Amino acid sequence: MGQKVNPNGLRLGINKDWDSKWYANKKDYAKFLNNDIKIREYFAKNLKDAAVSKVQVERNSKRTEIVVHTAKPGVIIGRGGEAIEKLKKEKNAVILAHYYVRPEVQEIADYIGDSFYLSKVAVELEEQTIVFCGVSFMGESAKVLNPQKTVLMPDAKADCAMAHMADEETIRAMRKKYDDLAVVCYINSTAELKRLSDVCVTSANAVRIVKALPNKDIFFIPDRNLAHFVAEQTPEKNFVYNEGYCPIHETVKIEELKQAKAEHPEAEVLTHPECPKSLLDLSDYIGSTSGIIDRVGKSDAEEFIICTENGVRYELEKRYPNKKFYFTKTEPVCEDMKMITLEKIAHVLRTGENEVQMDEALRAEFEKQHERLGDH
Ligand code: 13P
Ligand code: SF4
Repeated sequence: MGQKVNPNGLRLGINKDWDSKWYANKKDYAKFLNNDIKIREYFAKNLKDAAVSKVQVERNSKRTEIVVHTAKPGVIIGRGGEAIEKLKKEKNAVILAHYYVRPEVQEIADYIGDSFYLSKVAVELEEQTIVFCGVSFMGESAKVLNPQKTVLMPDAKADCAMAHMADEETIRAMRKKYDDLAVVCYINSTAELKRLSDVCVTSANAVRIVKALPNKDIFFIPDRNLAHFVAEQTPEKNFVYNEGYCPIHETVKIEELKQAKAEHPEAEVLTHPECPKSLLDLSDYIGSTSGIIDRVGKSDAEEFIICTENGVRYELEKRYPNKKFYFTKTEPVCEDMKMITLEKIAHVLRTGENEVQMDEALRAEFEKQHERLGDH
């Protein structure tokens, strides 16, 4: 193991041929990347007295290093990043990433944001190839908006469970039951569900778009929690609910939020609207992933309890180094988002594998649902 003392913390990463050779053994590295809780547990176990205070990724033009801040001086055991930079230039590619992906992936991304931002930015890109570091519905949206471009998914199996939690039969039945129904589809849905809907929304613009619809009856798919949140703010509408939910946000535990509030009474609670109402009721702010991040900047509070996927910690700590962030004890982790790794990004850039394919007739059909996204 190559080691270099560093006063800032324990430095981890991968060497410049990182996709084939390793300074540290691969098992350790995989454990490290798994997620922040596991990182902390892993170091607590392996570095006995070195309490891990912070994990961050640092990048300069030549390399990427993952820094684990501990009470002890750190060591560099590797680095990575150059291979992707080179491939990006060769392939005229750009990398988009959602805030829920691993820190080191966020670090090498050219654009990072929530679903709303990424869907807007996707239409403004000059590069011929888009590598989408997220789950499949995000890649599909990018393809709908950019039919001439190549959209590559680092892992074709990374999918959003909620995106499948509605069905054609129910949509058709609702249309029969209500004459004036608008089917409003959360962007976290399959292409097929979007095709069957009237308009596509994100958590950042759902209230504005629903308000602007001429229809009184709204069938909001697939997320019942976001639907209830939007319904509360649009009392003039008649909402019909669907039984879908995000398995990650749905399972944030109310007892754990209460415990975090008791431990950090000064902290503001910032919550994603995919969480159940019981959590929203205990929150100071409810908003999309970017909404949560921006709220920290606008707030005078110094401490925050964050009720959303733990990938946002990276951006929060980078943007607001003087503020403190806590999650519920069982940190929400979307395993599908964490399937995206640097190795897989380099692989698809190199091989062109996992290209998003879409039938042109289907694409044209649901382009209209997407096109209003940028207007709001
Ligand atoms: P936003 O990016 O709209 O906040 O959505 C969160 C989410 O679950 C993305 O999959
Ligand atoms: Fe889907 Fe939830 Fe994962 Fe977002 S966090 S991709 S909604 S499963």
